[in-house]
Amino acid sequence: MNNRSLMDIDTVALCDEDSAIVIIDQTKLPGTIETVSLHTQKEIWDAIYRLMVRGAPAIGDTAAMAYYLAAKGHIKDDPAVSPDALTEMLPEDKAYMASSRPTAVNLFWALDRMERVYLANREKTNEEILAILRAECEEIKDEDIRVCHAIGEYGLSLVKPGDGILTHCNAGQLATAKYGTATAPIYLGQERGYHFRVFADETRPLLQGARLTAAELHASGVDVTVICDNMSSSVMQRGWVDAVFVGCDRVAANGDTANKIGTSVVACVARQYGVPVYICAPTSTIDMNCPTGADIPIEERRPEEVTELWYKERMAPEGIKVYNPAFDVTDHTLIAGIVTEYGIARPPYDKSFAEIFAKKEEHPL
Ligand code: MRU
Repeated sequence: MNNRSLMDIDTVALCDEDSAIVIIDQTKLPGTIETVSLHTQKEIWDAIYRLMVRGAPAIGDTAAMAYYLAAKGHIKDDPAVSPDALTEMLPEDKAYMASSRPTAVNLFWALDRMERVYLANREKTNEEILAILRAECEEIKDEDIRVCHAIGEYGLSLVKPGDGILTHCNAGQLATAKYGTATAPIYLGQERGYHFRVFADETRPLLQGARLTAAELHASGVDVTVICDNMSSSVMQRGWVDAVFVGCDRVAANGDTANKIGTSVVACVARQYGVPVYICAPTSTIDMNCPTGADIPIEERRPEEVTELWYKERMAPEGIKVYNPAFDVTDHTLIAGIVTEYGIARPPYDKSFAEIFAKKEEHPL
């Protein structure tokens, strides 16, 4: 498969006939474009943990499908399984999937949503329950596409043709069902002849920027330049960056935002050069139960990602101490706006989030 076809493959898809979730194995990109079918709950858990499928919205889409497949599995094992038995088993499946990664709130959001739908329908026949759960996980994915498109429109209103945009990690199509969040304004601008110049931070240690963002933007014909993580100051100092667009894994109620490690460095540098930082966030990523960034759980990953992965030989001494947090928190004071599918939230966030959620309640997308 060539690069071009990367954009034509679903990041995550339910294959109901096969009782599987089909994903692009993102650990192999950009060199190999390969899809993998995940059948068991363990296979799905591993794929999320190992970042074969990653990015907050895509993790949510996958978890919703996992919930449906768990219910389908129980009903297949015992077609006459009672509502009480199913209601006892599903929370265990949900808790297991929820333990795959701690930071992206979309994982918990999607599982809670599936559980609410199940509980509201638990007295129906098993066949009806399965049809309802299948429709719900497909709707979560379809909604993801509509939401990203709307974020793209709002984001595009913040920039002009020819602008330089810097992004960190991958908040692209590979992190969602389509368009991405931080890349949605870029893709919509590309369709409309905006000719953006995009800088993609390589994003150590897992290189989501160099491997994934660069691959998908390049495959889509966007002018994209990969820079090492320590080069953002250099490109901003030269005046090449008009705006920073990044995604996020969880936004706290006060606007503090957890995203891929290194995002807060970019935000500090951008403040120095007067470049606005916009966080592209579906409302499903805003966690009103988290008062501040200090309350967001930050995943720590294994040391080998820093010392060995991507190198022909280990590049740090054996036995050396390694600190490998996967995310950091960008203080809300460094953020110019949070671009949601219902508009752009600006400080003070208690007021703007209340308005955004009221709009969502009134006119759901
Ligand atoms: O560890 P990852 O690759 O899952 O981290 C992903 C990010 O940090 C993304 O920026 C975030 O999930 C937003 S995706 C639209």
